[in-house]
Amino acid sequence: SAPTRDRLRIAIQKSGRLADPARSLLAACGLSWRQSRDKLFCFGESLPVDLLLVRDDDIPGLIADGVCDLGVVGLNELDEQAKARRQLGLADAYQPLRGLGFGQCRLMIAVPEEWDWQGPAQLAGRRIATSYPAILAAWLKDKGVDAQVVELSGSVEIAPKLGTADLICDLVSSGATLAANQLKPVETLLDSEAVLAGPAHALDDARAGLMAMLLRRLDGLSRVQD
Ligand code: PRP
Ligand code: ZN
Ligand code: MG
Repeated sequence: SAPTRDRLRIAIQKSGRLADPARSLLAACGLSWRQSRDKLFCFGESLPVDLLLVRDDDIPGLIADGVCDLGVVGLNELDEQAKARRQLGLADAYQPLRGLGFGQCRLMIAVPEEWDWQGPAQLAGRRIATSYPAILAAWLKDKGVDAQVVELSGSVEIAPKLGTADLICDLVSSGATLAANQLKPVETLLDSEAVLAGPAHALDDARAGLMAMLLRRLDGLSRVQD
């Protein structure tokens, strides 16, 4: 059973593309913290809402384990870990609560520029490097394609040049990384953006009220922005 706490704890990326926008958005909701930016834990001053600064990949697991109540994370990471849990037969542990309107990117199949792209059937028997093996496996299954998934935790885009894979499945934002590696995007598996993620099951202590208030403030902000 989940621990009872009276302070809400939100996990955000420590550094990277989502770090500053996540912090700014929470500040715009009226939250402020006592610690400086380089600390891993920021104690909430204006409200009992604390921040934990972590690697984005760790955020879904921190919510699943009840270490954090909420997290700002890419839908790509949340969806990957949700699919991985399902493939292991584990119950759903988190869900996206709100799209946050930043960190937009796409998870895409990208092939060497010289390929004449015909469609997913062309991937049969090929090796695909990715940091998103669960999403890729589900997509390949859906397309009825039998290909080999090569899991890499980073620098996926250089795998074709190294000869460790024939093509890749990775996030594309500006497209600069693909272009620099003579790769071209051909299929979209997921449209992603930063989301506020929460537990699959509602909280039932003081944190529930804090979470509802934070969501109301977030929704108020997005109405103003529209
Ligand atoms: C992602 C992705 C690509 C890059 C694409 O990595 O893995 O490397 O962004 O962006 P672009 O289309 O604008 O070039 P990111 O730098 O976010 O983090 P990583 O360290 O997890 O690869
Ligand atoms: Zn990451
Ligand atoms: Mg990268």
